[in-house]
Amino acid sequence: MTQMQPSAGAAARRIEHARQAEARKLSRRSFLRVSVFAGLTLSVGAMAAGFLGFFNLRKPTGFGGVITVVPARVPKAGEEPSRISEGKFWLSNLAGAQGDVAGVGGTGGILALYWKCPHLGCTVPWNPAFNGAAVNFPGIVGWFRCPCHGSTYSRAGIRVYGPAPRPMDTMAVSVNSDKSLNVNTGVITSGGPDNPLRAKPYSG
Ligand code: FES
Repeated sequence: MTQMQPSAGAAARRIEHARQAEARKLSRRSFLRVSVFAGLTLSVGAMAAGFLGFFNLRKPTGFGGVITVVPARVPKAGEEPSRISEGKFWLSNLAGAQGDVAGVGGTGGILALYWKCPHLGCTVPWNPAFNGAAVNFPGIVGWFRCPCHGSTYSRAGIRVYGPAPRPMDTMAVSVNSDKSLNVNTGVITSGGPDNPLRAKPYSG
């Protein structure tokens, strides 16, 4: 029996039909791929969020984050610096050009000094009894003095003695309307002779 040949129109319709079926299959596959990828991305994102949340890294508190210092912990101008242990810094409230042993000037205010010694990283304590006469600054009593190799810094963190390569580093400080301070321990600037000029005016 002779098989009937489809007309040209019917053949064109069949081809078009097959093309549309193939296109539908391809778009289903693409959709599946996108869905799997999106699912994976969401899972990884959720895991990362959980990790950050667990270790409290998204908004760090304590060292690395912003420390709010209440006014009662802020020293009065000219008083001994306050140790703020949770942020690893000293708060110095300079009276005028106090601590400016390099002669750069300065009108006083608040400095947050990172307590890590720029030499080899020891924690630098405040020594209220150390007499500057021992380091060629007679008449000034009270210095930051590193216990490891003796680097000695003024209350503005200026190095006057010892192997440290620079003054103590400073942290970003802002003064709030209630006289508390925000010290950003994640924003640390290398110490320099201009440390006294970095002090934030403060009328506590
Ligand atoms: S670590 Fe401070 S002077 Fe060496």
